[in-house]
Amino acid sequence: MASRKKIIAVVGATGAQGGGLVQALLEDGTFAVRAITRNVKSEKAKALAASGVEVVAGNLDDLGSMKQAFEGAYGAFCVTNFWEHFSAEKEQAQVRVMADAARAAGVKHVIWSTLEDTRKWVPLADDHLPTLGGKWKVPHFDGKGAADHVWSDLGVPTTFLLTSFYWENFIYFGMGPKKNADGTLSITMPMGDRKLPGIAAGDIGACAYGIFKAGGEYIGKTVGIAGDHVTGDDMAKAFSKAMGKKVVYHAMEPAAYRALGFPGADDLGNMFQFYRDFNDDFVKARSVDRTRKLNPKLQSFQQWLDANARKIPMA
Ligand SMILES: NC(=O)c1ccc[n+]([C@@H]2O[C@H](COP(=O)([O-])OP(=O)(O)OC[C@H]3O[C@@H](n4cnc5c(N)ncnc54)[C@H](OP(=O)(O)O)[C@@H]3O)[C@@H](O)[C@H]2O)c1
Repeated sequence: MASRKKIIAVVGATGAQGGGLVQALLEDGTFAVRAITRNVKSEKAKALAASGVEVVAGNLDDLGSMKQAFEGAYGAFCVTNFWEHFSAEKEQAQVRVMADAARAAGVKHVIWSTLEDTRKWVPLADDHLPTLGGKWKVPHFDGKGAADHVWSDLGVPTTFLLTSFYWENFIYFGMGPKKNADGTLSITMPMGDRKLPGIAAGDIGACAYGIFKAGGEYIGKTVGIAGDHVTGDDMAKAFSKAMGKKVVYHAMEPAAYRALGFPGADDLGNMFQFYRDFNDDFVKARSVDRTRKLNPKLQSFQQWLDANARKIPMA
């Protein structure tokens, strides 16, 4: 007999955010889980199917496939992956597809994984942050934030989930401690002495699960999440403790960071400068206490680091 559980359809189920939600949904068992992927035959998709998840094909560039993927779902978790193509315009087109599909399928609750449109703080004409791609300040933030209205315009019941910097960037994004010429270790972030709201990537999905579990309470609301608010010095201290070696924080200037030249350096340099210069607003939007109510197992930076330090590559 078919399951009578409400279905949560998860975009990005094979990735960090959606994968955390799938895990939380499976542990709880209240909802049925539908994982959406472009490739149902990938190893990750097969592992999801083996754990009892319904795995369906869906591509954010193809409206028909997303309508089918959302059909019959009560809830949908929606995320885009800027770092696959570096195009805020493409992210926006994908939001439009997801919103149209959710509306057509009559989805009752969408969680949209978003970030601030930083141009509300720094208008394009203000060159305190350089304009990128002709119309963005922090492209991977702005494209998401500027697409928030699409959900409301279409009348899709939506929670706007403001996510935070993943602690995993220290493992997978090349941000871990680097060896200096004198043998000392340092982490580099151009955000002066201000606080970074961050989170373990898997905790994002667990928070999304908490939002679905709360029924309609968060529909129409913006919910900012973080597992900790830490300065560069706080992080360096935590690294020193976890690695048993002294690590110091190097507060590079944002312009120097933008000039590092790796793909996305300008976007990230602007992002850190935004964190630094509008820190009160950015931190206030992400209460750790409120996040812990959604996800009681939320990890602080030190807790995450103690469990993961051995995975951090050293350059
Ligand atoms: N790194 C950070 O600190 C941070 C912090 C906050 C927010 N973010 C944002 O997080 C987003 C990425 O999320 P993530 O880290 O969970 O991603 P991820 O682990 O890199 O995985 C990407 C996921 O997106 C799916 N996907 C990508 N393109 C798709 C398409 N066209 N159609 C259907 N599915 C598609 C992939 O599914 P398949 O490959 O299986 O199809 C995969 O599950 C980015 O936009 C980034 O800006 C990152």
